[in-house]
Amino acid sequence: MKLILLGAPGAGKGTQASRLAELYAIPHISTGDIFRANLKEETPLGLKAKEYMDQGLLVPDELTVDLVMDRLKKDDCAGGYILDGFPRTIVQATALDEKEEVDAAINVEVPDVSIIRRMAGRRVCPACGEPYHTEYKIPSRDGVCDRCGAELIIRKDDEAETVRKRLTVYHDQTAPLISHYEAAGKLITVDGTESVEAVTEAIVKALKER
Ligand code: AP5
Ligand code: ZN
Repeated sequence: MKLILLGAPGAGKGTQASRLAELYAIPHISTGDIFRANLKEETPLGLKAKEYMDQGLLVPDELTVDLVMDRLKKDDCAGGYILDGFPRTIVQATALDEKEEVDAAINVEVPDVSIIRRMAGRRVCPACGEPYHTEYKIPSRDGVCDRCGAELIIRKDDEAETVRKRLTVYHDQTAPLISHYEAAGKLITVDGTESVEAVTEAIVKALKER
């Protein structure tokens, strides 16, 4: 199954992608995680991406498209994949359309007010990327990742002002993709304000009904 997850920053794309990847045994490809991993290793790509990410802006399409297209050529993508955070612009969506036929684009809908609350409580694992929340998804050991044992951190771009900027960028550049995939007959919309489990169930049900 080839899936795309659409949604505002903090809508729960990473959370759902990690669950769906396990459920369907397909790789979870998050452009945000790839950029953050590069930044940690201080690669030229990571350092370049940081200039944009820290300001809440999108990394330029020319850096992003080739990166994802190369990743999709790897053997583990032969049986499908779940893209989390890509495409994010019409240019990226068009580039993907030229090479791949996806089964569905899942739009996780959450209003801006809830997004701001979620980002304020988010904690992430710097090692494996798993997201946590101080109220909604508490790790079993305080401040430690359940999956890999690394110490959780607060993402730099989760500061309130940067979150507002990311939301503006989302509405301007990424929200138009909803109509793009609707026109292609690929769109599934789910209510992202429900519990993590309920959102996964809604996605699985919608995929079965297709
Ligand atoms: P990226 O890492 O993709 O960030 P994002 O899209 O802004 O999304 P987030 O990771 O912030 O949120 P999410 O939707 O995954 O939510 P999560 O599951 O964590 O990108 C970061 C940056 O990289 C971008 O700003 C850009 O600069 C760059 N970039 C990445 N891709 C790019 C591209 N294609 N082109 C150009 N630039 C690109 O959940 C959020 C919180 O809520 C968590 O704490 C979670 O535990 C909690 N939560 C989740 N679901 C629920 C629920 N149902 N109920 C209650 N709490 C919940
Ligand atoms: Zn971890």
